[in-house]
Amino acid sequence: MYQAAITGTGVFTPKQTITNAELVEAFNAYADLYNAENAEAIEAGKIAPKPHSSEEFIVKASGIEQRYVMDKSGILDPNIMHPLLRQRSDEEPSLMAEMAVDAAQKALAQAGKTAADVDLVICAASNLERAYPAVAIEIQDLLEIKGFAFDMNVACSSATFGIQAAADMIRSGSIRSALVVNPEICSAHLEWRDRDCHFIFGDVATATLVERAEDASGPCFDIISTRCATDYSNNIRNNNGFLRRSRPDGLADRRDMQFMQNGRKVFKEVLPMVAEHIGNHMADNDVQSSDLKRVWLHQANKSMNDFIGRKVLGREPEPGEQPNILQDYANTSSAGSIIAFAKHSSDLEDGDTGLICSFGAGYSVGSVLVRKRD
Ligand code: COA
Repeated sequence: MYQAAITGTGVFTPKQTITNAELVEAFNAYADLYNAENAEAIEAGKIAPKPHSSEEFIVKASGIEQRYVMDKSGILDPNIMHPLLRQRSDEEPSLMAEMAVDAAQKALAQAGKTAADVDLVICAASNLERAYPAVAIEIQDLLEIKGFAFDMNVACSSATFGIQAAADMIRSGSIRSALVVNPEICSAHLEWRDRDCHFIFGDVATATLVERAEDASGPCFDIISTRCATDYSNNIRNNNGFLRRSRPDGLADRRDMQFMQNGRKVFKEVLPMVAEHIGNHMADNDVQSSDLKRVWLHQANKSMNDFIGRKVLGREPEPGEQPNILQDYANTSSAGSIIAFAKHSSDLEDGDTGLICSFGAGYSVGSVLVRKRD
């Protein structure tokens, strides 16, 4: 059996940002338009008026201060309220593939490897731009990687589930290495007209190169153990299934075709599930709270992460022990914990132990115990 290791990570960050102030201004303009257009029905008590959103609420409820997006013009236009993503021809690279290729190239460069060293591409994301051919195969083609590729979706847990799949294949010897990529165009499945959730998501792509540890050409993180768990719930749901580019018909405008959640239930139900999952995973690997030098958590909500950090470490996390990136990126679904890992792991020392954990729709939770090797 081979030892699997994370040898490189990469992050593609879109050029455009939306601050909370810009977001709230656009939402409130949309709400005013809606209320004016529906004044009669509102007056008659047939429909409820749309209340304004607030920057203070967003920061307090989530810890999010801004988000990166692929197109802000459509999102911030009160008459549009969704990204305007140009329909690409079948001969052009898809948007997700383009984002993932950038992140993958950075991961390969960090590991000192080329496409020739990769046997597998897993595109693990919460929404896929099309059903088939697999986006992963397109990414494989664009990077000129031999071997094979496939897509998988476990919503916010896609990256850690992908890392477990890659690590298992490396351990068994069927592959030498895998690129796990997470292109997340969350802006296209977020309902920007829903005040309860319009602030939640941002766009990004991450890539993780997993190799046989013996092939690492520099410092790396040995994967000590991976663990995945799921438990069916309707509390986070999107009935559309594909990335939405426009609203060509009434169907695409149905509320259930976009991200929906029962946020309070999610908060209450997911926290104990994740805390128990991590506790059991650590115990089964003889990892004590005091052994953990860093925890890279899914980035959905600051209070949620603070709670999990306290449970896992058994005390208030020191600054830097449990890095948050959601103030800058918002919730980027599966990519969140990998952005935190990519940006806040290079300072760990030989032998230091850390934990990557993501969780979300499904419900699903995936954890990866890693140990730094110089
Ligand atoms: N601006 C101002 N007020 C707002 C608002 C906004 N944008 N959105 C909601 N409110 C109001 C609500 O109407 C409610 O008012 P009420 O008390 O008069 O009814 C109040 O603020 C509280 O709303 P609520 O939705 O209960 O807030 P919350 O404190 O539960 O925070 C979430 C909302 C979504 C941030 C929080 O529940 C959460 O993080 N849940 C988990 C989310 C998650 O991880 N999801 C995974 C996604 S992949």
